[in-house]
Amino acid sequence: MLSVKNNEPITFQENLIHQFDDIVKRYPEGRQKSALLPILHLVQAEFGWLSVDVMDKVAEYLSIESIEVYEVATFYTMFFLRPQGKYVLEVCRTGPCCLVGAERIMKHIENRLGVKENEVTADGLFSWRGIECVAACGMGPVLQIGPEYTYYEHLTEEGVDELIDGLRNKHTINTKS
Ligand code: FES
Repeated sequence: MLSVKNNEPITFQENLIHQFDDIVKRYPEGRQKSALLPILHLVQAEFGWLSVDVMDKVAEYLSIESIEVYEVATFYTMFFLRPQGKYVLEVCRTGPCCLVGAERIMKHIENRLGVKENEVTADGLFSWRGIECVAACGMGPVLQIGPEYTYYEHLTEEGVDELIDGLRNKHTINTKS
């Protein structure tokens, strides 16, 4: 579901606009809409998710209708339409991974983080969700973390704990330095 609008004006930084321009140049004149998907990825990396205001701003940049952006953003599940944690733990829940414990891993993450699927922890660091096959079926259970999409395979509850602790420590060190 699309998020409600808020009143904060959205602005794209100059370097982001330069990246947009470089992508648009790859396509014939008048076909700038073809740049929509890569631009949405850039925008999501910048803002963490795609609010209606952000999508409207993308539409304005590309000189297309807002609905054309909404159609794309709501079709592809890799786009977040609500705020997410800094780290989004995405667990494959397709059949082969479920057979080797994906549901158990998701339950463990839910208990460990204390939030349900698609909710954000109070410190803003984590959210999690189940996703479909990420093409590592022989290494399940599998988890990926965006926006870099690092993969973690053969997951165990202990491994998940180490991963979460590691990310938390990394965040603490980065915010102190
Ligand atoms: S079923 Fe999980 S990676 Fe393919």
